Amino acid sequence: MSTVITITNQKGGVGKTTTSCSLACGLAMNNKRVLAVDLDPQGNLGFSLGLEIENCATIYEVFQGSATLQEAIRPAKYCDVISSNILLSGAELEFTGKQRESMLKNLLSTVAGYYDYIIIDTPPALNILTVNAYAAADYLIIPMVPEILSLLGVSQIKDTINTVRASVNPNLVVLGILLNKFNPRTLLSREVKEMAQSIASQIGTRVFETHIRSSVSVAEAPAQGESLLDYAPRSNPAQDYKALVTEVLDLIKKSK
Ligand SMILES: Nc1ncnc2c1ncn2[C@@H]1O[C@H](COP(=O)(O)OP(=O)(O)O)[C@@H](O)[C@H]1O
Ligand SMILES: [Mg+2]
Repeated sequence: MSTVITITNQKGGVGKTTTSCSLACGLAMNNKRVLAVDLDPQGNLGFSLGLEIENCATIYEVFQGSATLQEAIRPAKYCDVISSNILLSGAELEFTGKQRESMLKNLLSTVAGYYDYIIIDTPPALNILTVNAYAAADYLIIPMVPEILSLLGVSQIKDTINTVRASVNPNLVVLGILLNKFNPRTLLSREVKEMAQSIASQIGTRVFETHIRSSVSVAEAPAQGESLLDYAPRSNPAQDYKALVTEVLDLIKKSK
């Protein structure tokens, strides 16, 4: 059975796609069979993993019923990928059928035997796509950046978690809050860490011990279609993401 991890925060620019990409690659480098799923209509995950997103079936066509899941799964350098499409931005109005919250969960259950881990990247929103990503997940990881504004609005994530738990996925676990672009030397970062800890306790989770430091290599790697872990393996964030993979594997092992 696959373990499904959704990377979520309704704010943009906090490192969801970077984290999805690094986690997928890091797990693959640990000999895990990984599928990465892009639910963000902007399609950055597919791009970052080196996929050509034009002219191939995406999760949109699969939801729509004009392609099968198998047709949308693409082998990429590090792992398999299902990419996204800008047409997915109309999902809220387009997919109105019964079980609309469980479309992704039902699809992924058909490949659960093939993958050890399925990583889902989400849009900066709390909408039907996010709900599908929460419904399909065993665990959520919430990246945040050390800015006060980034910490506000977590109560909305909490509401979405509770709604999904009460309906389609009672076992949803928040694995942790991940502090990204974190510089332990600044006062702001330390204050933000305390705030993040108090938010974590409100939603019954922890702040990961691993923090992700900043480096320009994070922005450079996707342009090369490479994982940060390959592109700049010695950079601070690459080291941090490797540590995060270990921490995540450990926590999941303990929680089972
Ligand atoms: N640790 C980091 N150090 C430097 N830049 C980062 C880091 N994490 C993310 N970024 C940059 O911040 C921007 C937003 O990151 P991204 O992963 O796309 O966030 P999201 O998916 O939440 O919108 C990108 O340009 C990315 O390269
Ligand atoms: Mg993104």
